[in-house]
Amino acid sequence: MVKVAILGASGGVGQPLSLLLKLSPYVSELALYDIRAAEGIGKDLSHINTNSDCVGYDKDSIESTLRNAQVVLIPAGVPRKPGLTRDDLFKMNAGIVKSLVTAVGNFAPNARILVISNPVNSLVPIAAETLKKMGKFKPGNVMGVTNLDLVRAETFLVDYLVLKDPKIGQQEDKTTMHRKVTVIGGHSGETIVPIITDKSLLFQLDKQYEQFIHRVQFGGDEIVKAKQGAGSATLSMAYAGAKFAEEILRSFHGEEPETESLSAFAYLPGLKNGKKAQQLIGDNSLEYFSLPIVLKNGTIVSIDTSILERLSPREEQLVGTAVRELRKNIERGKSFILGSS
Ligand code: NAI
Repeated sequence: MVKVAILGASGGVGQPLSLLLKLSPYVSELALYDIRAAEGIGKDLSHINTNSDCVGYDKDSIESTLRNAQVVLIPAGVPRKPGLTRDDLFKMNAGIVKSLVTAVGNFAPNARILVISNPVNSLVPIAAETLKKMGKFKPGNVMGVTNLDLVRAETFLVDYLVLKDPKIGQQEDKTTMHRKVTVIGGHSGETIVPIITDKSLLFQLDKQYEQFIHRVQFGGDEIVKAKQGAGSATLSMAYAGAKFAEEILRSFHGEEPETESLSAFAYLPGLKNGKKAQQLIGDNSLEYFSLPIVLKNGTIVSIDTSILERLSPREEQLVGTAVRELRKNIERGKSFILGSS
C-alpha cells in the first residue's frame, strides 16, 4: 500500500496530476496539500470510486499530509508567463521548494521526492542540499521530473517523420517509433538533449533534424505563447508526471518499468561512469544530469550511462552545451542553500 502526497495540488499541474493519481491502482492513499483550496479538491476527488482514499489538507496541515508518505510530488510554485524563463522563476520557487523539502525531511524522511517545479535544474540541487544539511539525504530518492521532455520528443519525432512519410501517421500504434528517441541532460532550453537512438532516422529526418532538436528544447514556449499569459504546460505535464510517478509505484510493487529509457534529473556521484561519460559529463564533477535510471523499490539504484557511448558528433556537441549551462544552474541552486544559514 503506498501513500502518495502532492504538494501544490490546487494548481494547473497539481489538479490534473491529482486526478490521474486518484485513478492509479498503485496508490492506496492520496494526500493533497496546497496553501489554498486543497481541502475542496481532495473532497471532490474522494467521490471517485477507485481504491485509494483521498484527503485534501489545509495550509497548516503539512505534517498530516506527509506522515507515512512514500512518494511526494512537488508541483508547488509559480509557472512561466510570456517573457519569463524557467530561470526567472528561481527566486520565487527556490524558497517554496526549500521549505516543502524541509517538511519532507522532518515528516517523511524516507519518501521519494519528485520535483516538478521549475527551474528543475536548480531546484533539485536545492532539495538535495536541504536534505544533506538535515542529515537526511538519500541520493536515489531525489528526482527531477524531466519526463515531459521525453513525451514531447516522442510526439514531435512522429510529427516530423510523418512529413517525410505519411504512411507513418497511419500506423495504429506509434510506440515503436517512440522507442527510437530518448532525452537526457536537464530541463530547460539547451540543457534538454534529445537523442535519436536509431541513427538511421537521422537521414530520414534530414533537414528537419535541427528543427526537431529546437522544438524539443523549446517546446514549452509553444504552450506559454498559446495560453496567452495563463501559464505554462499543465495537462501534458500532469500526464508526464503521472506516468513517471506510476513507474516509481510499479517499482514499489516489484514490477518491470513500462517506459523504456525512463530518465530523471538525478544526483550522479557514485554512479559508474563509462569512458565517454567521464569525458562528456566530467568524471563526477557535474553532480546532476538526466539519464536513464534503474529503479528498485521506488529508489534510483543506478544510472545508465551507456547512451553516452553511442552519441553522434552533433549529439556530443549538444551534451557539451548542456553541461556548460547545467553547471551554472546547479551552482545557483547549491549556493542558495549553502550560502544561507
Ligand atoms: P500554478 O500557479 O497553477 O500552481 C502552483 C500551485 O502551487 C498553486 O496552487 C499554489 O497555491 C501552490 N503553492 C505555492 N506555494 C506553495 C507552498 N508553499 N506550498 C504548497 N503549495 C504552494 O502553477 P502550475 O502551472 O501548476 O505549475 C507549477 C510548477 O510546475 C511551476 O513551477 C512550473 O514551472 C512547473 N512545471 C514543470 C514542468 C516540468 O516539466 N518539470 C512542466 C510544467 C510546469
